[in-house]
Amino acid sequence: MSCPELRRFLTHLWPLLLILAPGREQADVPPKAVLLLDPPWSTVFKGTKMTLRCMGFHSRTTGKISWLQGKRYLNEVSESISIKSSGNYQCKTPESSLSDPVHVEFSSGVLILQASHPIYEGDNVTLRCQGKKEEYTKEKTYYKNGEQLHDTYNLDSITIDSVSMFPGTYHCTASVKFWSFDKTRTSNSLKIQVQELFPRPVLIASSSRPIEDGPVTLTCKTQLVLQKPDIQLQFCFFRGDQTLRLGCSSFPELQIPSMKTEDSGSYWCQAETPRIKKWSLRSQIYVQRVPVSNVTLRIQPPEGQLIEGHNLLLTCSVTEGTGLITFSWHRDGTGILGRKTQRFQLAKLQVSKVTEHHAGRYYCSADNNNGPILSKRTQVTVKIPVSSPVLTIRAPRAPAVEGDVVELHCQALRGSLPILYLFYHEDMTLGNSSAPSGGGAFFNLSLTEEHSGKYSCKADNGLGSQSSPKVILNVTVPVSCPVLTLRSPQAQAVVGDIVELYCEAQRGSPPILYRFYHENVTLGSSPAPLGGGASFNLSLNTEHAGNYSCEADNGMGAQRSQVMTLSVTEISRNIAGPATGGVIGGLFGLVLSAALLYHFRTQRNSGEASATAIPSYSPNESQEPPSSRPSTTNTGEPMPYEAQALRDLQPVYSNVNLPRMHWEDKEPTVIYSEVKKIHADGFTKQTSRRESDHADDTGNYENVC
Ligand SMILES: *[C@@H]1O[C@H](CO)[C@@H](O)[C@H](O)[C@H]1NC(C)=O
Ligand SMILES: *[C@@H]1O[C@H](CO)[C@@H](O)[C@H](O)[C@H]1NC(C)=O
Ligand SMILES: *[C@@H]1O[C@H](CO)[C@@H](O)[C@H](O)[C@H]1NC(C)=O
Ligand SMILES: *[C@@H]1O[C@H](CO)[C@@H](O)[C@H](O)[C@H]1NC(C)=O
Ligand SMILES: *[C@@H]1O[C@H](CO)[C@@H](O)[C@H](O)[C@H]1NC(C)=O
Ligand SMILES: *[C@@H]1O[C@H](CO)[C@@H](O)[C@H](O)[C@H]1NC(C)=O
Ligand SMILES: *[C@@H]1O[C@H](CO)[C@@H](O)[C@H](O)[C@H]1NC(C)=O
Ligand SMILES: *[C@@H]1O[C@H](CO)[C@@H](O)[C@H](O)[C@H]1NC(C)=O
Repeated sequence: MSCPELRRFLTHLWPLLLILAPGREQADVPPKAVLLLDPPWSTVFKGTKMTLRCMGFHSRTTGKISWLQGKRYLNEVSESISIKSSGNYQCKTPESSLSDPVHVEFSSGVLILQASHPIYEGDNVTLRCQGKKEEYTKEKTYYKNGEQLHDTYNLDSITIDSVSMFPGTYHCTASVKFWSFDKTRTSNSLKIQVQELFPRPVLIASSSRPIEDGPVTLTCKTQLVLQKPDIQLQFCFFRGDQTLRLGCSSFPELQIPSMKTEDSGSYWCQAETPRIKKWSLRSQIYVQRVPVSNVTLRIQPPEGQLIEGHNLLLTCSVTEGTGLITFSWHRDGTGILGRKTQRFQLAKLQVSKVTEHHAGRYYCSADNNNGPILSKRTQVTVKIPVSSPVLTIRAPRAPAVEGDVVELHCQALRGSLPILYLFYHEDMTLGNSSAPSGGGAFFNLSLTEEHSGKYSCKADNGLGSQSSPKVILNVTVPVSCPVLTLRSPQAQAVVGDIVELYCEAQRGSPPILYRFYHENVTLGSSPAPLGGGASFNLSLNTEHAGNYSCEADNGMGAQRSQVMTLSVTEISRNIAGPATGGVIGGLFGLVLSAALLYHFRTQRNSGEASATAIPSYSPNESQEPPSSRPSTTNTGEPMPYEAQALRDLQPVYSNVNLPRMHWEDKEPTVIYSEVKKIHADGFTKQTSRRESDHADDTGNYENVC
């Protein structure tokens, strides 16, 4: 292998070596020293004084210089040496590497072809055809590779523009006068020694198998000789035939921030000066795609617990995976919900205003052309807030009556189960019931009078409670046994007096109609639209003695009071007779008789009572039986004895804590001790034997039907 061929071979091999060991850069090798000739021609005539100077990396060379002729070290250490013999010379300074060899030829001929030195690629080279005796040398002709160059006849020198590394072999001929005749002479054959301006560039990639979406830095590596500081190298990068970057630049690096799979290919670079272009070998770069992995679906709100109308956010992510990733979202049993293709490792899908139909098992999938990978499934539940419930009250009859059992039913038509239902009566809680399945809840209520009023219910399933509209329930209370009282303006009712019959039932829903009876004959009726009692006025005449009663009716069953007897007693006769039962018995008989007299309204002191009403069954052992009809209406004078007796008796009435007494004749068990209060109605009340034990605690003599 010849020397240029070897160099060419090495030049080709060298970038490969650098790719294999990119860390070992040219900078590891110091720049070459440069050998300069003075005079600056590599071919001179024998005997010419030739000085070689060694130029190092730095402008000022210090230290020992090594000189070589061929392979032999010369015994020289100075910067400049003089030489006399032909040969290949090289030098080296301490801080630079060995220079390229320079062939210096000392010619013994009469015609030489000289080339300037040093020559770098792209330089203009001056070739000089020189005779030993120049004045006798004419008709200079220049040849390249044996062929004559045009337009070079008789030129002292020619210039070859922009030489390449291997410019060819030159020689020249000339006519040289020898003695007196001319002779054509041929010069030496000249191989122009062209030095490399910069070595062939090497493309260095930060990675030859980069990960997709990752960056890659390409470097076009070469080194311009130091002797040409004014030349600027330009760098261009290519993938296949395509220029990367917008043209060339003086920057030897190209950064690609994100490599795509389609960016795989063969890359190369070019370094150039205006005259010299050199390009690197091609380097294959293969962009690696990382398959997706760990596909995860995240759901907001967490746990997948949604409330109807809220938004559902589905976030699908992958831990690894490069390039374009296609995300899709699914729910079991339905088609695809959404799809997105993008370069991020995370994608979101929002489902707005969910309804109960959005409940289900969700998953997502991710694919970057290696087949879809699915996430785990996540359950999404949609809870529905309760709607306003409806309260219905079912009663066995209308209107509902005290004692009835009514059924309250509360139901919200919408709302996730379980629902807790609460029942209210006038804002007081009645109770609650949880409905684990649909259909609402029931609550039974046994009605009392107090249960009238407004009812409502509330439904609550943990997402806010809702109240029903209020429902009014009227509990109808049947009338109780009414009490009839007779009121006259004076103790002794006389003909022409207005007697007020007052009837009142303690209980009973209004409106109540009161009817008044005399001996079972209806006297009349009075309504009590708002409840309470009612009165009926009677203008007395002689027919009015006898039994009275009243009736209360509110449509739930009429109730009749006990009978009251209005009678007139002829007091004088009664009191005059001695008590047949003895003093004690007589006294008690009188007391009892009086106790049964319903209190005089009044005016005991006035002593006007001349007619008294006594019970029709009152004992009469010490008195004559009372007349069944008012006998006297003409006298306003109370009988003295009667008045006295009443006056005497009065304290007894008020301190009536007497021992139990038996009325032997007709009333075996009348307990007077329970008569605590005495009304001055002037009429007697007829108590039944049965009920007399339970004389009214409230102080009224109430009849019990
Ligand atoms: C080389 O010669 C050409 C013309 O012959 C000229 O244009 C060019 O500038 C020269 N180059 C140098 C470096 O002198
Ligand atoms: C999978 O992805 C989830 C969510 O991005 C992450 O929390 C988890 O650590 C990942 N698991 C692995 C094994 O990478
Ligand atoms: C429901 O009723 C039960 C008793 O029946 C009571 O302990 C509970 O506190 C009630 N719940 C509510 C929410 O009122
Ligand atoms: C309410 O009463 C009805 C019949 O009156 C009965 O069928 C039902 O079971 C009762 N409901 C409750 C909660 O007691
Ligand atoms: C309940 O009674 C009131 C008066 O007491 C009456 O205005 C209302 O109409 C009644 N409601 C029903 C549902 O019977
Ligand atoms: C009065 O009516 C009641 C019931 O209607 C009856 O029991 C009674 O015998 C009647 N009395 C007379 C005197 O008609
Ligand atoms: C009955 O008479 C009394 C007074 O004597 C009077 O206050 C009352 O309003 C009268 N009642 C009727 C129903 O006329
Ligand atoms: C009044 O009622 C009593 C007892 O019910 C009865 O004995 C008497 O005869 C009645 N009087 C009249 C006038 O009907």
